[in-house]
Amino acid sequence: MGPLGGKVILITGATGGIGRAAAMALAAMGPELVLLCRNPEKGEETRRTIARETGNEKTSLLVCDLSSQRQIREAAADFLAANKPLHVLFNNAGVLELRREDTEDGIERTWAVNHLAYFLLTNLLLDRLKQSAPARIVNVASAAHASAGGPLDFDDLGGRGQANPMRRYGISKLANILFTRELGRRLEGTGVTAHCFHPGFVGSGFATNNGVISKLVMGAASAFNRTPQQGADTGVWLCSTPATPENGRYFVDREASWPRRWGQSDEDGARLWEASARQVALV
Ligand SMILES: NC(=O)c1ccc[n+]([C@@H]2O[C@H](COP(=O)([O-])OP(=O)(O)OC[C@H]3O[C@@H](n4cnc5c(N)ncnc54)[C@H](OP(=O)(O)O)[C@@H]3O)[C@@H](O)[C@H]2O)c1
Repeated sequence: MGPLGGKVILITGATGGIGRAAAMALAAMGPELVLLCRNPEKGEETRRTIARETGNEKTSLLVCDLSSQRQIREAAADFLAANKPLHVLFNNAGVLELRREDTEDGIERTWAVNHLAYFLLTNLLLDRLKQSAPARIVNVASAAHASAGGPLDFDDLGGRGQANPMRRYGISKLANILFTRELGRRLEGTGVTAHCFHPGFVGSGFATNNGVISKLVMGAASAFNRTPQQGADTGVWLCSTPATPENGRYFVDREASWPRRWGQSDEDGARLWEASARQVALV
């Protein structure tokens, strides 16, 4: 069984990097794992590897490209239709896009995948998490929220007007922190908690989707970075610890930590919630 025996965990982006390492570590603790992935072949290979290396056969796939709100809605509906409880939602999938490109919903891709997908998937599964309480939501954020360079600009939400891709990425990661803060506040008293964390700088497939040069740069940097297992550690801990880490907080190396002051604004957290709900048509 293991400490997570009988639990159901849904994790996004488990086909690579931090998500794959987290899925492997969590699987070894005995839960049923749902791997939300966009590429079924990679998902199936991950599922088989998890079974082989951990002995956990209770893993299934939910195929979904998180840049598409339609696909997120379909995936959430499929999960809910299976009538399983949901004890942990681990929002991990993320991208850094050097080029500005819109999704089918007309939203800049980094913002769509890194923030709006967390927001929409969480909201669609929130009642099931509450029904399954005690339950947890764990969001992968980043110290790179500092690259946002200041508070969220609600006149250009998501930073579509920003030419600098690191700035756009930082804005999306700042949104992860503010979203978690507001979510934690809204979930008080429900038995569901929300946390986010910075995994450290990790040698993964991250940002290698931007051509040969980015592959070479990220490959060279990975020698100095943390391993995906090290990067996943705080997230795995947040999913599994019997302790009760403070709701809504940002964690680094298993410790509650303060993000830049722009990530500490309750007012911006509440405004972001309302604006995100409009962007995904939840109002
Ligand atoms: N690496 C770092 O140094 C670092 C530091 C701080 C925070 N983070 C955060 O950590 C998280 C994981 O990053 P990583 O380093 O593990 O990156 P990675 O190795 O590139 O893995 C990203 C995962 O997300 C999936 N994914 C990307 N776009 C998707 C989409 N549209 N729909 C569904 N799945 C999608 C990828 O699927 P495919 O396999 O199909 O590509 C892959 O499984 C991200 O949120 C990132 O912002 C990373």
